[in-house]
Amino acid sequence: MTAPVPLIAGNWKMNGLRASLVEAAAIAEGAAGSPARVAICPPAVLIHQMSEMLAGSGVLVGGQDVHWEDAGAFTGDVSAQMLADVGAKLVILGHSERRSGHRETDEIVARKVAAALRAGLEPIVCVGETLEERNAGQASPVVTDQVRGSLPAALTGQPFSVAYEPVWAIGSGLTPSTAEIEEMHQAIRATLAERFGPAAQAVPILYGGSVKPSNAAEILHAAQVGGALVGGASLKAADFLAIVRALQA
Ligand code: 13P
Repeated sequence: MTAPVPLIAGNWKMNGLRASLVEAAAIAEGAAGSPARVAICPPAVLIHQMSEMLAGSGVLVGGQDVHWEDAGAFTGDVSAQMLADVGAKLVILGHSERRSGHRETDEIVARKVAAALRAGLEPIVCVGETLEERNAGQASPVVTDQVRGSLPAALTGQPFSVAYEPVWAIGSGLTPSTAEIEEMHQAIRATLAERFGPAAQAVPILYGGSVKPSNAAEILHAAQVGGALVGGASLKAADFLAIVRALQA
């Protein structure tokens, strides 16, 4: 089975106004011809304009969350169908900032993944351990349990990716060693194989957490790393493009 096409996605989190769309335009210009799939996941209110602006550029636009229901009385929430309707192609689900800040359990994440699939969105499902869990030697069981619990059966045969984002590496400037990243990605791959068999080889497993131009090449070339989910460094086109280019370094 051939290796998956790498995916490099920027997670803008709760950053960016309409004025930030110039960064997205610069990213699209600079990413042209990249062997990776490149995506930007801005705040929901920017998706419509960004996806119209980037149409035909090859750079995909994604969301950062959806509700698990398709529609209804859920004040303040946004459905997967709504994101797809304004041009999103992908969606980040189960990010640790949602798991911890919004009490999302694996079961909720799995329901959101199923909702994304119903709307034709490609999910990027995030997993990752806390520092306490890592220090207790529990990183691998915690993360593989999250993988088992967060991926619904409906994913079989559908395109999706998993992002390994150690909570302690997010926004901290800290990163695991290459060997630690490879060990975790290998554990995730084995867990995916339990569920999806040989098709698990085609699932990109992204690394996320303090990816920046200076460490991107080493991380992206590590075994079993199929791309990156980039937070802070995706807000500036120059930094994000340096990460995209690191794939070919
Ligand atoms: P940073 O790249 O800012 O550490 O954020 C990583 C992340 O949470 C991406 O989803």
